[in-house]
Amino acid sequence: MDVIEAIESRKSIRAFRPDPVPKEILTRILEVAVRAPSTDNTQPWEFAIVTGPILDGLKKAMSEKMGAPTEFTPDIPFPILSYKPPYLDRSKKQGKKVFESMGIARDDWPRRMEWYRYMARFMDAPVGLILYVERYLGAYAILDAGLFLENLMLAAMNYGLGTCTQMAVVLYPDILRRALNIPESKLILCGVAIGYPDENAPVNQFRSEREPLDSFATWYGFD
Ligand SMILES: Cc1cc2nc3c(=O)[nH]c(=O)nc-3n(C[C@H](O)[C@H](O)[C@H](O)COP(=O)(O)O)c2cc1C
Repeated sequence: MDVIEAIESRKSIRAFRPDPVPKEILTRILEVAVRAPSTDNTQPWEFAIVTGPILDGLKKAMSEKMGAPTEFTPDIPFPILSYKPPYLDRSKKQGKKVFESMGIARDDWPRRMEWYRYMARFMDAPVGLILYVERYLGAYAILDAGLFLENLMLAAMNYGLGTCTQMAVVLYPDILRRALNIPESKLILCGVAIGYPDENAPVNQFRSEREPLDSFATWYGFD
């Protein structure tokens, strides 16, 4: 698979087979992912990779806690309640695709809640990764961590693994801090569910949309 093909075919995987992922494979993926560029080569990404009973404990604690957006306390305040167009429309379109793929109606709150709890369980993936950076490094470190993240997702594909970056697993950072000994000095950014894709799951069948390039790009000096 060439680089363009890998980038174009990557998509978020939201249902996984329970098969464990060998540590050797995860190690290789992470070794590749840390080749990402970073500000002054500071390499600020840090991550906890969790499986087995420790992951089970996190899944239980976070899914039990999952509640209203007003109760979320992520390290980076989540802007969902303040989205305006065009971000609001894109976000709504994406949410609609996810719920429609599973036949969950807009007003079916019990099933929607069930989905949020499922997300808090790392979408039942066998491996969960929590990504964080030293807090005082600020926005550049977050940018660097994003580059690591895309590398991670692309490298995982090489081993037949699927991934989904998740804010849903960092909504209650205290739970993560306690279980994984992550100090307050670290800014918890997001999680990643990792596992072998359940190819037949309805939620894995759709592809997210992108706006036309012209809505992002402003060209100068070209014909
Ligand atoms: C920082 C970040 C947090 C995300 N959190 C979630 C999440 O909690 N739940 C989820 O289903 N998808 C989550 N996603 C995945 C996005 O919804 C997804 O990347 C986007 O819809 C584009 O789809 P694609 O990844 O399939 O191209 C997150 C992505 C990012 C980058």
